[in-house]
Amino acid sequence: MTYPTEEARRRYAFRPYALPARTEEEMLARGRRFAALMAERRSVRQFSDRPVPREMIELAVAAAATAPSGAHRQPWRFVLVGDATRKRQIREAAEAEERVNYEGGRLPDDWQEALAPLGTSWEKPYLEVAPWLVVVFEERYGIAPDRSRRKNYYVKESVGIACGIFIAALHDMGLATLTHTPSPMAFLSRILGRPRNERPFVLFPVGYPARDCVVPVLERKTLREVLGE
Ligand SMILES: Cc1cc2nc3c(=O)[nH]c(=O)nc-3n(C[C@H](O)[C@H](O)[C@H](O)COP(=O)(O)O)c2cc1C
Repeated sequence: MTYPTEEARRRYAFRPYALPARTEEEMLARGRRFAALMAERRSVRQFSDRPVPREMIELAVAAAATAPSGAHRQPWRFVLVGDATRKRQIREAAEAEERVNYEGGRLPDDWQEALAPLGTSWEKPYLEVAPWLVVVFEERYGIAPDRSRRKNYYVKESVGIACGIFIAALHDMGLATLTHTPSPMAFLSRILGRPRNERPFVLFPVGYPARDCVVPVLERKTLREVLGE
């Protein structure tokens, strides 16, 4: 027996684990259904102000929080903002930064060129219109009860995976979001009063697409390309 080690088995708890028994046919049908579902996902930049129950957002966060993480440190925080004043503060601060990016020359030319087909600008009205802003923070290090620092591992990878599950869970429920990084994002720590060990990772406006919502026509890489074949 190579797993778990004898040492670990003596010191820690392990339990049996199995997945539901399914035929290969069922498994392929589920795989196809999920791939088709995810193919319909798009980033949205025009939201409806239609309210979304907090429970829906919490369910997506609960799904996100099942993500694997380096040494199981779970180095993520998902801060929910539904309050109009806070949303306005975040919009104003994000627009101030993005204005410098887009109009103040902070974005290098090649980056501006790459963004051009998306039709984005420094203006971010959706940050006030969307019923929820979910601000994800990466926990750079943990804080032990004696206030000493506890190291986290593979923080960005872990939080990135959690965000992917969050996006998939929202989409599966029928909600839209935008993976938004109005950088630099330090204003999010200030406005939301987050501790020093947390760093802003991504800002997700969440809601329903506006009735007149459009998205850029983009091509995704083919499966062959993705497989490198
Ligand atoms: C890490 C990351 C950061 C992003 N930041 C922004 C952003 O700040 N503003 C924006 O409009 N879109 C942003 N996007 C969204 C991408 O532009 C979008 O995912 C891409 O164009 C593909 O479109 P799709 O999500 O509809 O498939 C970001 C996406 C990722 C993964």
